[in-house]
Formats: sequence, C-alpha cells, structure tokens
Amino acid sequence: MMNKISSITIIGYGSQAKTWASNLSDSGLNVRIALRSNSPSINLATNHGFQVLCFDDEEYSNDIHKSELIAILTPDHTHLEILNKVKGCISKDALIVFAHGFSVKKENLPSKFPFLNFGLLAPKAIASEMRELYIKREKFPGAISPEYCQNQQSSEEKLTELSKSLGMSPPSKVTFEEETVCDLFSEQSLLCSLLPYGIRYAFEALRQKNIHSEMAFNECLYESKLIIQTIEKLGFKKFFEIISPNALYGGQKAYASKEFQSLKSLFSRLIDDISNRKFFEEVDKTDFNKLRNNVIDDWSNSEINQAWERFHQQSREQSNEALDNKKA
Ligand SMILES: NC(=O)c1ccc[n+]([C@@H]2O[C@H](COP(=O)([O-])OP(=O)(O)OC[C@H]3O[C@@H](n4cnc5c(N)ncnc54)[C@H](OP(=O)(O)O)[C@@H]3O)[C@@H](O)[C@H]2O)c1
Repeated sequence: MMNKISSITIIGYGSQAKTWASNLSDSGLNVRIALRSNSPSINLATNHGFQVLCFDDEEYSNDIHKSELIAILTPDHTHLEILNKVKGCISKDALIVFAHGFSVKKENLPSKFPFLNFGLLAPKAIASEMRELYIKREKFPGAISPEYCQNQQSSEEKLTELSKSLGMSPPSKVTFEEETVCDLFSEQSLLCSLLPYGIRYAFEALRQKNIHSEMAFNECLYESKLIIQTIEKLGFKKFFEIISPNALYGGQKAYASKEFQSLKSLFSRLIDDISNRKFFEEVDKTDFNKLRNNVIDDWSNSEINQAWERFHQQSREQSNEALDNKKA
C-alpha cells in the first residue's frame, strides 16, 4: 500500500533543486523551497511560484517541523553544515532525502544524527536533461535507498512514489555505499575524463596531421554521440555486428594495445581510492575554485572548444536565416 506524499520542502534552489521543484510541482506536489536569508535565489524561486522559507526565520523552524519530506539539494560539501543548522527543527518522523550518497558516506551522517531518517533518491541524469525528459514524458534512470530510516518499508514506498513524481523509471534499490562508489567511479573513469579528454586527444591528433577542423570535430564529437546512442539502442553485440570491417579491425587494434590495456590498472586504482576513502581525503585538501578556474582556462584555450563555439555560432545563424526566409 503506497503512502500518499503531498508536499516536500527542498533545501536549495540550484541545478537539481530547480528541476525537482518543477517536476514535482507539475506532478501535483506542494513544493516549498528553503534558502539562506541572504540567498540570491529567493526572488527567482518566488517568481517561479514557490513558497520560500528562510533558514534563519523563526517561521522557518515552525514550518520545517511540519515537513514530512525534506530534500537537501545543495552541494555535497554543505550538507553537514546545513543539517547542523536545521537539526533542531526537523521532526523525528521526517524523511530527509539526498540526491547522491556522498555526504552521508563521507561524513558518516547517520552516526552524527542518529535520530534522523536519511533516504536516497539518486537520479542518474543531469538536472537539465531530467526537466527536458519530464516535459517530453520520457523517463530517466535512478536509484533509491531507505537504508538509514527507522521504518524502511514506509520510507521505501515514499522514495518510490517520489521517484515516479520526479519522472524516473522504476528505480534500482541500492545501498548508499553502492551509489556513492558507482557515481564517483563513473565520473572518474568515463564521464568526466575518458569521454571529454578522449574526444579532445583524438581531435588534436587529427589536427596535428592538418586535417580540416570541421571534419575532425564531426568525426570526434558528433560521431561519438551517435555511437553512444546506437550502442544504447541496439546493444553492444549488435553494434560490433554492424560496424564496418575496417572499424572492427581498427578498434580491436587500439583495444589490444598495451596503452589501452593499462586503463584496467588505472580503473582498479581509482575504485580502490574511493573504497578506502583516500579520495575523500583528497577532496578535503582540494581548492575547488582554483581547480575549476584552471580547468576552464585550459578548455577555453583548447582548439576543440573554439571549434565547438564556431560551429554552434554558424548553426545558430543558419537557423535564424532559415526562420527569416520562412517568414519572408
Ligand atoms: N547537478 C546535477 O545534475 C546532479 C546530478 C545528480 C545528483 N546531484 C546531486 O544533487 C545535489 C545538488 O547538486 P546541484 O548540482 O544541484 O547543486 P548546486 O546547483 O550547486 O546547488 C546550489 C544551491 O545550493 C545552495 N547552497 C550552496 N551552498 C550553501 C550553503 N552553504 N548553505 C545553504 N545553501 C547553500 C545555493 O544557495 P543560493 O541560492 O543561496 O546560492 C543554491 O541554491 C548534490 O547532492 C549532487 O551530488 C546533482
């Protein structure tokens, strides 16, 4: 028997929070946004039609006490600080939901707040895509865990219902540890390393041989997108059945090379560093602003990003021209 969830308080109004607020509200939930009293997002959330509570208002403490469902959707490193601020006004029956298990595992939140119920509802999609897919009535994958809740069955039902209202396909049931390791590892091994940097290295190798930049760009970025879509649609076996003999031989030549095979030992080191918490220690010592500025500088100066800007500008101009011709 499903619990009927009718309202949610979302802490934060960033990428995930905006998407959760819009999707859940469009699914019929009453959504309230909780922010710092000096938050630059108060006007935005109010203009989007949401009731806004402020952390430091007295009204907030009364109101949050009535919240049965609270989602903390701020950056992971802020969760401990936020819980320390609001712990006194959270009802012991409330379910506190995270979109990623990182802070719960890194800070060991269940041992610091044993009287609170922590659940996980982790979308496996970036926020902007989750909104677009919801609007198109298409689903995205995700995972839930009622692991750190007093009443696991009722919390699992609430998380399942919430996942449906968010636009998720039936979620996998996992542990916080599994979701945290998986998410961090996929970012490190593929999503934020091999994919963007592999595409860039391949583009740069072609440019060193003076291949035309548009040709190299389409070959490396556009075709990568199509290949991922094809594998996702047809499966790996079918993909290798349908590629050309040259593509098959060439791919296997690279795959069998010593350099490519060394990825296995890299992946094994990355996953060990997450499991043995070395990665958490590294994160604590990192100056994220400095790191982001350095990475952004490097990509802004890269030829592939400049090519992306040029081709996007051209395609915007072409679609405006086509629109003008249609109107004329
Ligand atoms: N981004 C994604 O697509 C994605 C995907 C899957 C899971 N997740 C998870 O979703 C959660 C939210 O990530 P996000 O990328 O959406 O975060 P985000 O956009 O960086 O969150 C920004 C929001 O957090 C608030 N905030 C920042 N520091 C705060 C503090 N110290 N106290 C109170 N509020 C603070 C900001 O407040 P102001 O408005 O006042 O500045 C803003 O509203 C994380 O657990 C993340 O791992 C994210």
